[in-house]
Amino acid sequence: MSPSAAALELPAFPEAEAEAPNADRAVAALYDDFPYPPPIADLAPYIAGDKLPTFNPRDSWALHFPEQAPRDTLDILVAGCGTRVVPMLAARMPRARIVGVDLSAASIAASHDQCARYGLDHVSFHRMPLEEVATLGQDFDLVHCHGVLHHLADPSAGLRALAAVTRPQGAISAMVYARYGRTGVYMLQDLAKRLGLDANNGGAPFMQALVKHLPDRHPLAMLPWGERPDLPIEEVADMLLHPRDRAYTVHDVRELVDSAGLALHRWLGNAVYEPAVSPLGALGEHAIAQAGPWERAAAMELFHGRLITHSFVLTHPNRPTAAELFSGPGMVDAVPVRSPHLSATVDGDQLALENRALQVPVRVTGPVEKLLPWLQAVDGRASVGVITWQVHQGRLDAATMRDALALFERLYQADIIELRSGAARG
Ligand SMILES: C[S@@+](CC[C@H](N)C(=O)[O-])C[C@H]1O[C@@H](n2cnc3c(N)ncnc32)[C@H](O)[C@@H]1O
Repeated sequence: MSPSAAALELPAFPEAEAEAPNADRAVAALYDDFPYPPPIADLAPYIAGDKLPTFNPRDSWALHFPEQAPRDTLDILVAGCGTRVVPMLAARMPRARIVGVDLSAASIAASHDQCARYGLDHVSFHRMPLEEVATLGQDFDLVHCHGVLHHLADPSAGLRALAAVTRPQGAISAMVYARYGRTGVYMLQDLAKRLGLDANNGGAPFMQALVKHLPDRHPLAMLPWGERPDLPIEEVADMLLHPRDRAYTVHDVRELVDSAGLALHRWLGNAVYEPAVSPLGALGEHAIAQAGPWERAAAMELFHGRLITHSFVLTHPNRPTAAELFSGPGMVDAVPVRSPHLSATVDGDQLALENRALQVPVRVTGPVEKLLPWLQAVDGRASVGVITWQVHQGRLDAATMRDALALFERLYQADIIELRSGAARG
């Protein structure tokens, strides 16, 4: 196995990678040989509601459609469905109609078989490039596309294809790789090419073994698996031997979203992108505090340094963004809902609140006696204004109202609560 001349010329970061003409076939072949992530072994806890698919529209309606009354009859497209997203969503959303498309026959077969095993028949699958999804002649309330756009020859064209099948009031839930946390991944992808390895020539077991011999504190250890992880073979193939992947800074995400004519509704895992609920917020005045959402997020990815993904909800520009709905007077009428991923722990007289679905931990802490009454009053029906009135037992003035709005803004920024606009009560 000798390294090819092309491989030796590769720069460290993948966006300048020379495009293999048959890259789509190579992508499909990779996932046919190594479907990733692997199927969910046991769907029963998802059907029972004991386990939740992360950021799904049944349990986190307000993250996707805060200005609309909740409903469970959504039409959902899972673009680049792989093996597990359709079964998990189908288990949790029995009244939805769910369509999965993927290039890989093996991934579709795994999804299909899993659904069939549990009698989930409100699903259908198509083996096709998502770029051609309009040929199905269907449109959707929600398009789920996680871990796929960064594998496309033209991610902007792919996102435009998804936008074209998203209804005017619909949403796209997307995830792409983040650049800085994956620095070590791209070093090892480059190394694999220099070693002449790919997923078809025994590269996966070789790289699986190689990872265990990495020196201490190799940049790959920035990933959440630690120093020398025992990685499953599918994960090695997907991460280190992929024929085509690129990673995005926040600025790159913005360009991608703009290029598709879409609007950023909100980050999924917003807390990670919000200086106000980070140590930066406590360090005093700085320009970023007043900046727009993209600039704040760009600063926060530099602060965290090791984000490995960016997840976000996109909409057509006609829908209001979350910031437009819930800044100023919109907050008084907003109806808070506790995040399904909320964890609350008491240590002495302090209460620590945290959303467990975040990439990096973000906590809101405060005296139990000050925070708990507010949290207990959040029942998914009462508005911020009504809760404030209840907690203060009808004694309200401008200062108590201002403090209450600031608290709810903080809980929202930190993903402790989700918010529905007053207009969405259904
Ligand atoms: C890393 S997996 C992610 C699967 C799934 N979205 C998830 O979150 O678990 C990427 C999937 O995208 C599929 N894929 C890649 N390019 C595609 C394309 N152009 N059209 C449809 N599917 C594609 C692959 O076959 C693979 O199953």
